[in-house]
Amino acid sequence: GITRHYKFHIRLQNMTRLCHTKSMVTVNGKFPGPRIVAREGDRILVKVVNHVPNNVSFHWHGIRQIQTGWADGPAYITQCPIQTGQTYVYNYTIVGQRGTLFWHAHITWLRATLYGPLIILPKHNVSYPFQKPYKEVPIIFGEWWNADPEAVISQALQTGGGPNVSDAYTINGFPGPLYNCSANETFKLKVKAGKTYLLRMINAALNDELFFSIANHTLIIVEADAVYIKPFETDIIVIAPGQTTNVLLKTKPNSPNATFLMAARPYFTGSGTFDNSTVAGILEYKKPSVSSASNVSIEGLPLPTLPPINATSFVANFSNKFRSLATPQFPANVPQTVQKRFFFTIGLGSSPCSNNQTCQGPNGTKFAASLNNISFALPKTALLQAHFFGQANGVYTTDFPTTPLMPFNYTGTPPNNTMVANGTKVAVLPFNTTVEVVLQGTSILGAESHPLHLHGYNFFVVGQGFGNFDPNKDPANFNFVDPVERNTVGVPSGGWLAIRFRADNPGVWLMHCHFDVHLSWGLRTGMGSFGWQAPQSEATSSTV
Ligand code: C2O
Repeated sequence: GITRHYKFHIRLQNMTRLCHTKSMVTVNGKFPGPRIVAREGDRILVKVVNHVPNNVSFHWHGIRQIQTGWADGPAYITQCPIQTGQTYVYNYTIVGQRGTLFWHAHITWLRATLYGPLIILPKHNVSYPFQKPYKEVPIIFGEWWNADPEAVISQALQTGGGPNVSDAYTINGFPGPLYNCSANETFKLKVKAGKTYLLRMINAALNDELFFSIANHTLIIVEADAVYIKPFETDIIVIAPGQTTNVLLKTKPNSPNATFLMAARPYFTGSGTFDNSTVAGILEYKKPSVSSASNVSIEGLPLPTLPPINATSFVANFSNKFRSLATPQFPANVPQTVQKRFFFTIGLGSSPCSNNQTCQGPNGTKFAASLNNISFALPKTALLQAHFFGQANGVYTTDFPTTPLMPFNYTGTPPNNTMVANGTKVAVLPFNTTVEVVLQGTSILGAESHPLHLHGYNFFVVGQGFGNFDPNKDPANFNFVDPVERNTVGVPSGGWLAIRFRADNPGVWLMHCHFDVHLSWGLRTGMGSFGWQAPQSEATSSTV
């Protein structure tokens, strides 16, 4: 591989959407940010220079970061934030991965404006295991706030309540013609008839899982989270924040002049506030010779059919269709036995609020979210730094429980007491052990689907179901042959999901809900793969 150099200048830039102009934090003045394009095996160097008042840090979402934990990015987990005027160089190599991923800021809610595609092409002279596309197009979903998203979350955290929802969803930064004062801010994909396009789809939205469809067109899904899958056809895709997927779009053989709408809107099962608006874009067939029309009217164009907002069984069915290729060239190395087992409950709840006059959570508390009833508090020193220098004392503890502190009928009547404990606890995965985590959704404050993301690893989704996980019955149905391999997965609303992986990447890695509101409320934990010894040759300089 070669080394590819990128420079990220973090600057304020005026941006206008929905007739609101605001000064926002950007990478190189762009929204969405620049594309990173590399090949499998390449080394990436990104020099970040921070020119804004905010602290920043960047995560290369889905990159394994094998032995390069310092480049992973979450603030206070693997590094201290990059302060105003400071520079930080992210340096990592892409090992054994190819496909679509993305990068985003990993501190407070800055990823609302700091995100962009991270595209990994196969090595030279290696082809895709599917039809070669005529063209490749990134499609990246996001959200737009007329207000400053940083202010939105800090206000919510101070009052202990839920933050305001965004004003629009976006495709490649554009809200589209269904919003007020937005007709000119529409993503338009111009295509030729009878060709195959590869859409590299990324959900960079902060707080919503999305349905997406293109009217009158079928999509073929070929990859998820930068891993090839067994292709399958669908009219509608479901994509959670943190997930990426590659789909083939075959354009109609003879449709010159035709125009179709594409649209995305949220899948939402819980109670509470959410944005139920729709972002739309345009798929426009180019006329063979004449130059394409300048202004397309969407009047009379039908919106693609999207499922209802709470279509739980549609979503479960859809996610069940993802299967690893599991071929000799792309094997699924699923751990067949387990050395370290965890059972994590995912819950929303409440925690004590110091200023109870202003606290908007249940009964004068503040909203909290937890894994195993522990709401993770960010430390003052980065976990990886504390671990590396042997100074964990006072920074974190290693007593993260393997089962919940407060067992109950998880998908039945919620308990009266939903208080969580605050702590900075790390779950320990001894280096190179095989790990199973059962992620159990709970009914506290409304059963809701949570996109759980693990840094530093891909995992295999060996099982999923509704209701409470039954350790005596459910493992018999686990798939060890071709389970999908991902880095982010939606834990079904009112159900559970089981993942397996080998803890072969030393360091401290974050696991969290990829809804930023839940992340801010503490739905995260450190996963420490400890006990790795650097090979002798790396640890000491050899004496001849
Ligand atoms: Cu995409 Cu911890 O994040």
